[in-house]
Amino acid sequence: MVRVAVLVSGGGTNLQAIIDAKAAGKIPSAELSLVVASNDKAYALTRAANAGIKGVVVHKEKDEDIAHYGQRLLAVLKENAIDMVVLAGFLTILPENVIQAYDHKMINIHPSLIPSFCGAGFYGLKVHEAALAKGVKVTGATVHFVNEIPDGGDIIAQKAVEVLPDDTPEILQKRVMEQAEWIILPRAVEDVAKNMEV
Ligand code: GRF
Repeated sequence: MVRVAVLVSGGGTNLQAIIDAKAAGKIPSAELSLVVASNDKAYALTRAANAGIKGVVVHKEKDEDIAHYGQRLLAVLKENAIDMVVLAGFLTILPENVIQAYDHKMINIHPSLIPSFCGAGFYGLKVHEAALAKGVKVTGATVHFVNEIPDGGDIIAQKAVEVLPDDTPEILQKRVMEQAEWIILPRAVEDVAKNMEV
């Protein structure tokens, strides 16, 4: 069984989608072994506790060397025998040492159809603000492997969502989460875990 850590920073709705999918028997190849939050205010930690999943906080200190932060994060993942990492609304930039340690074993959910509206500075509502500003009629979400380029790794799954005339960034974000993110991320966790040799 692949041991999965989910890295979070905020509300944890994508984490909840994975928890619910696991409970529904849709992720037989993986177990949710750990939730790592970048801050102690993340409601995702409450979701983890409610689901009986161990939750820890690994916070990058303001002036901390990023490689040092990476070593601390890797130590926590190693202590918990983590095979695969899922970034679900995780906002801390990961250093090379962490990305290399989980090459093609770390996935991320991005709230657009990559290569549109992605890369440095495109996260959360900013992504939907850019999509609305551009006037696209279709957007969606992408699950991809994590590499050293922000949102640059191989694409695993995508799902399109219609943009409606009166959409605000908040309305569009909610539709993309409900109709795309919360569907393709749990599926990707199972697909990647199933193909991993551990
Ligand atoms: C979501 O829009 C997700 O696409 C992005 O972070 C936002 C918050 O996700 N990666 P969550 O509710 O914390 O899972």
